[in-house]
Amino acid sequence: MQKKAVSIQILGNNPSKLSQYRTQISSLINKEITPVFYDNSTCEPTEINKTSTELLIFLLDNETVDALNQLISMPSAERPALLVIAEANDNQLMRLAMQAGARDFFVQPADNQELLKSINKILLDLRRGHAKQGVLTTVINAKGGSGASFTACNLAHLAATLSDSSVVLMDFDLQFGTQSLNLDIKPQYTIVDALNDASKLDFDAINGYMSLHKSGLHLLSTMLEQVILPGEVSIDSLDQLLTLIISHYDRVFIDLPRMIDPLSAFILERSDQIIIIVQQSLAHMRDAKRLTRILKSEFNIAEKNILIVVNRYDANRGLTLDDIQSTMQCSKIHMIPSDYEKVAQSTNLGIPIYDYAENSAIANAMIALTEALDINVRDEFKKKGFWKKLFNSKKK
Ligand SMILES: Nc1ncnc2c1ncn2[C@@H]1O[C@H](COP(=O)(O)OP(=O)(O)OP(=O)(O)O)[C@@H](O)[C@H]1O
Ligand SMILES: [Mg+2]
Repeated sequence: MQKKAVSIQILGNNPSKLSQYRTQISSLINKEITPVFYDNSTCEPTEINKTSTELLIFLLDNETVDALNQLISMPSAERPALLVIAEANDNQLMRLAMQAGARDFFVQPADNQELLKSINKILLDLRRGHAKQGVLTTVINAKGGSGASFTACNLAHLAATLSDSSVVLMDFDLQFGTQSLNLDIKPQYTIVDALNDASKLDFDAINGYMSLHKSGLHLLSTMLEQVILPGEVSIDSLDQLLTLIISHYDRVFIDLPRMIDPLSAFILERSDQIIIIVQQSLAHMRDAKRLTRILKSEFNIAEKNILIVVNRYDANRGLTLDDIQSTMQCSKIHMIPSDYEKVAQSTNLGIPIYDYAENSAIANAMIALTEALDINVRDEFKKKGFWKKLFNSKKK
């Protein structure tokens, strides 16, 4: 979870200047800077380590121009961020620095405060670039009661149990949320508390608002006695909270009730994967088609990011998987079998299905779905052969 420090080097040809600037800038920004002596007799900036240097402070003069030319010839993606301190205010040097993609250009002697400002800005940009971007998976139903909350809970639990990812489940059913019951957790704080305090939170603080399941799954849940009315949560708070969570966790699951309002629209637009839960009826098909149309046309969500999951699947009744696949015009379809007994017990007891019935068909189907979401399931948990063939996606 720890952010990695940005590695900084300073390059020059004059040893005393190199050492002087290194000491000066290092104490200015309070960070280690590695000196790189450029030997123009061999024409090699031998120590520039392309893979690990992220910021290169370049002391530019006639002796180091060749090194800058070498940088220019490198693909831009391989070049470190560059800050140039030139010996003279020379247009030709400035032009070269620009060609090398310099973020800033100073002339010696560089002003300390200006240097500090510039380097801090570059470091901030680099850190932002490093920030982790977790995958946001939203589960929504095509019709009430299809099993979206059950699926969201169990996928999040499996991701936490079977992979090395850090995982959060967010219950956005702000009026009738049940995720704390599904996991038998009594939350101290709720997702609404976190949303209200979003502007003040950092990573350590947000952890305090979450409940921890023994699988390692973090839960941001609602409380049964708390009812939130539409409009009580601002989009700004939601934006801040989601940004914070996505940048600190590998996988984020949202249980989203079926309602298109500003809050859900924002979540859907930010989602990397949207799972639509349907059952085997024409009424479900009608609503699912309408929902996918809205997702594609209003929210510009690519088809590849929408997964149709048929829940409570029973081969002996209702539409077949082929019917559903051709009605929904999707390239892949996934299913979770119906198992009233096990699901009722698992939800009543607040024990996720994998913990309650590890070898059941429904747990295996959930694992197959977890893999379809590109969650890195550890090898020992991967489902092979029969179950995978039976329950994994049907391809057209
Ligand atoms: N595969 C399944 N087999 C049997 N029962 C199931 C299955 N999936 C879900 N259920 C049951 O169906 C009911 C509805 O599930 P759930 O609450 O997850 O649906 P939902 O889509 O979130 O509904 P809501 O519209 O209320 O948010 C629950 O009682 C749940 O236990
Ligand atoms: Mg629900």
